[in-house]
Amino acid sequence: LWHFNRPQPLKGKKVVVTAGPTRERIDPVRFLTNFSSGKMGYSMAEAAVRLGAETVLVSGPVSLPVPAGVQIVPVESAEDMFNAVLAEFDDADLVIKTAAVADYRPKTAHGKKMKKQESGQTLELERTVDILKELGERKTHQLLIGFAAETNDVETYARGKLHKKNADYIIANDVTEKDAGFNTDSNRVTLYGKNSFEQTFPLLPKTELAEQLLTAILEKEDAYDR
Ligand code: CTP
Ligand code: CA
Repeated sequence: LWHFNRPQPLKGKKVVVTAGPTRERIDPVRFLTNFSSGKMGYSMAEAAVRLGAETVLVSGPVSLPVPAGVQIVPVESAEDMFNAVLAEFDDADLVIKTAAVADYRPKTAHGKKMKKQESGQTLELERTVDILKELGERKTHQLLIGFAAETNDVETYARGKLHKKNADYIIANDVTEKDAGFNTDSNRVTLYGKNSFEQTFPLLPKTELAEQLLTAILEKEDAYDR
């Protein structure tokens, strides 16, 4: 890894990033998931390494190469992801929750393949654990950064999540916008923080955007000397 002449503001810090979708099992051959590609999360992890951090990437199933210098922890379900993040949480300095965690899972994961019914089928779903919210309740010194993908009322929903989950920052994007959001190489986001802090970013490749986001957060934190 070549880090000559690069500022490393995260040197000596531990960053935990979550990325990708989760899979919630229905039976041995089927699951519920979403369109998350993992690109934004992998870019955040790559940026954390570039800025000098010890970086752990807790990742749902994606088909992306693991960035050099990143410690990967592969997981499947929301529950797996929660346990993996908790195991890394105590000595983490920054936790970045980029993952698109499934909000529901089948109430029963069938042990055997479900056979098709003539009458159709109803799946009963229950809530998964809200990882970011749980971390918000447990945090001591950790800086918590969440994401919010919205189709409307972006600021209202993003600020609601900041507050409800006790996060320090929410990075929000309008997924209806062209070239932004799920499964794209670029993204356009707004960073929301406490006390009406707001910073918008232009449409950028996710790799570039990730570094700018981390830098903006670090600058803001330094300015307020927490
Ligand atoms: N998140 C989480 N655990 C969940 C759901 C979401 O940790 N079970 C995290 C995501 O990783 C993200 C943030 O919470 O950092 C916001 O996720 P999002 O899906 O936008 O918000 P939700 O609270 O799930 O609300 P909704 O989907 O209804 O908008
Ligand atoms: Ca959700």
